[in-house]
Amino acid sequence: MKLSHLAGFAVAAATLASVATPAKAAAPAEFQVCAACHSTKPGVIKIGPSLAGVVGRKAGTMPGFKYSAAMKKAGWIWDVKKLTAYIDDPQKVVPGNRMPFFGTHNMKTAHAVAEYLATLKK
Ligand code: HEC
Repeated sequence: MKLSHLAGFAVAAATLASVATPAKAAAPAEFQVCAACHSTKPGVIKIGPSLAGVVGRKAGTMPGFKYSAAMKKAGWIWDVKKLTAYIDDPQKVVPGNRMPFFGTHNMKTAHAVAEYLATLKK
């Protein structure tokens, strides 16, 4: 086998490897603030509920976490759109909720965080 063939094989193998094992989504820098209060591990309660599997979960329903009445009666299932709005302005989306976070007041940033949350499986 010629050397050039070997080199070609190495490149192909490297490409295959990167396709087979997608890198874990990195948390956007803005998530650091959230991480002070929220774990990304399933079932772990900090100041706030775990955010593992939050997309697809009904608002205010992580077992073992004591939610505000406002969050308990929100009634929807979290998706990226709803999370974006909530992260941007929590009090506007869930008036009276007791998450001590003012909101990003930047939809682009809020959306990036929401997209990241969608990668957190329970
Ligand atoms: C200082 C602590 C704190 C920070 C910072 C914080 N949260 Fe929260 N979060 C809470 C608390 C407490 C609740 C419960 C609110 C309630 O019951 O009204 C909550 C609730 C939530 C919920 C609803 C979860 C559910 O199970 O329905 C989501 C989603 C959420 N936070 C996402 C975020 C994101 C994303 C950030 C960062 C942009 C963030 N939080 C920053 C404390 C915090």
